[in-house]
Amino acid sequence: MDRQLIMERVRAEMPERRWRHTEGVIETAIALAIRYGEDPKRAELAAIIHDVAKFWSIERQGNAIRDNGLDQEVLGYDKELWHAVVGAWVAERDFGVTDGGVLDAIRYHTSGRRGMSKLEKVVWLADYIEPGRDFPGVDAIRALSEEHLEKAVLAGLDGTIGFLIAKGKRIYPLTIEARNGLIEELHA
Ligand SMILES: [Fe+2]
Ligand SMILES: [Fe+2]
Repeated sequence: MDRQLIMERVRAEMPERRWRHTEGVIETAIALAIRYGEDPKRAELAAIIHDVAKFWSIERQGNAIRDNGLDQEVLGYDKELWHAVVGAWVAERDFGVTDGGVLDAIRYHTSGRRGMSKLEKVVWLADYIEPGRDFPGVDAIRALSEEHLEKAVLAGLDGTIGFLIAKGKRIYPLTIEARNGLIEELHA
């Protein structure tokens, strides 16, 4: 499906403020892709679609996961993770995305995972630091994102995990794995 049409379809799925977040992710993902030698078109496509299912009801997200044989494991964890799995499925089924790397960048944009591709790191980080994000420490990670992709993603994962611990929430195993993997990568 044509990129412009995908943008219109995604925009129709969310309130205007979330679309502004998506525009920020698109802009940031393109810039990071160019900086770190990833294809900006692939980063842009994943960024456009990444939150397509974010504003679906939880019932609809859960049903999409159960009824279509998607990753059932996320159902046992934070509902914030579900829209990423559903988003990858929508990208393939409704928007005809066939690039598995783009689909994975959507699928893992919230959790991360061990052995993230460069595209996955770019989209994960863009989602974390896009210009609309405002939380303590975000500027330090923005600065780091201009110097070292892996170090910036690691700092972001530390922030995410620290936040979950502070809130008394469980941590999805893939997020721990993502962090372990990055530390190994940085020390290899
Ligand atoms: Fe998201
Ligand atoms: Fe997002």
